[in-house]
Amino acid sequence: MSYEDEYDPLFDDPQDEKPQIFARRELVEIGHVPSEKRIVGRENEIQSVGQYLRPVVNDDAPSSFIIYGKTGTGKSLVSRHVAMRARASGERRGNRIGVVYIDCSQDSTETQAACSIARGLNEESSTGIAVPRTGLGRSHYYARLWDILDQRFDAVIIILDEIDRLKADDGEDNILMQLSRAREAGKTSVNIGIIGISNKINYRDRLNERVKSSFGDDELVFNPYDANQLRQIMEARRDAFVDGVIEEGVISKAAALAAREHGDARKAIRILRNAGEFAERNGYSTVREEHLDAAQKRAEVDRLQELLSGLTPHTKYALMGLATLTANNPEDEFRTSVIYDAYRSVCADAGSETLTLYRVRDLLREQSFLEIIESYHTGGGRGGGSYTVHQLLKEPEIVFECVDTGAEDE
Ligand SMILES: Nc1ncnc2c1ncn2[C@@H]1O[C@H](COP(=O)(O)OP(=O)(O)O)[C@@H](O)[C@H]1O
Ligand SMILES: [Mg+2]
Repeated sequence: MSYEDEYDPLFDDPQDEKPQIFARRELVEIGHVPSEKRIVGRENEIQSVGQYLRPVVNDDAPSSFIIYGKTGTGKSLVSRHVAMRARASGERRGNRIGVVYIDCSQDSTETQAACSIARGLNEESSTGIAVPRTGLGRSHYYARLWDILDQRFDAVIIILDEIDRLKADDGEDNILMQLSRAREAGKTSVNIGIIGISNKINYRDRLNERVKSSFGDDELVFNPYDANQLRQIMEARRDAFVDGVIEEGVISKAAALAAREHGDARKAIRILRNAGEFAERNGYSTVREEHLDAAQKRAEVDRLQELLSGLTPHTKYALMGLATLTANNPEDEFRTSVIYDAYRSVCADAGSETLTLYRVRDLLREQSFLEIIESYHTGGGRGGGSYTVHQLLKEPEIVFECVDTGAEDE
């Protein structure tokens, strides 16, 4: 039986008239490392990172440093970009440079991070060394890593992104200690340059003295972008979209939205992508200014979800408690004991046990670390004693949406 000559509307009809929105969607994916011509206004930072990496590339004493800056200031992008250039430059001169990028919010234990570093630098077919994803103890992952380094490279650059999210198996900064002192300790002859990236400016204070001393004193701080730079960053990705699809004014308005809290390029790019997806889903042929509100809201939800990932359910309950209070009261600062009551009723709804007041206060304080909450001690005035108050830095609806979504996913 053959249908060869027949016309079958089931398959042969031109795909419904859905307008095409994206031409190269990967250009508006956050993890994508764009080519240099799309990188806006980071010349000085690129120069500085290059300076730090020069000894690694030239087979001199390794250097390690930390980059600080708020979300979306180009820390990850610039580090990856410069590391890739360092590798290429080394190659041109016969120096074998390995580059590995670790996101410590994903690989959040030392063992996982050590495993990912070893896997990222390995090529089993050439080393004959197997690095299973699970099943080895930390020290075995390190041992294999040193072997891999010695076999394959003259120097390596290890980027530890979101390093403040690393939960230490054993001592806060053991991995930094291991990596930064490996050569000195005779474990490998390869130069190891480390780029630590943190959103928190005080991260270095938490480090142990020995680790601190192996990190240079200089720190690199990336400042937020202004609305004009955000606009240029988005303009340089316009070809993610089909020609002419983005309406006049959309990019400027998106830049203004993304500049609101601080100039966050991640938010800018997400807003643009979300707006495109909104248009696509709803059958619009262009991306319009009125699509930006939904796009912005989704960008906020995505961001909070990222921040919440890996947090315990009780942290989420405490956050829900605070969000409920914030939504239902004129004031926006609440004492720990008040939040604790709200937290308990969230737990009751969720059918969960409750933690102690002190534990919840600590959880709240930890959130202030992640820029979800602001917590501070207040004098309390005449005869008032002192106490801690907490303020939610996100819109309560965003929290409701995230924590709900989180629960559905589980
Ligand atoms: N100067 C820039 N030029 C072009 N794109 C940028 C720039 N800075 C950041 N971006 C883009 O914004 C997003 C967030 O940047 P990222 O480097 O991840 O920020 P951070 O690591 O500081 O949070 C990425 O998609 C990145 O490509
Ligand atoms: Mg980053």
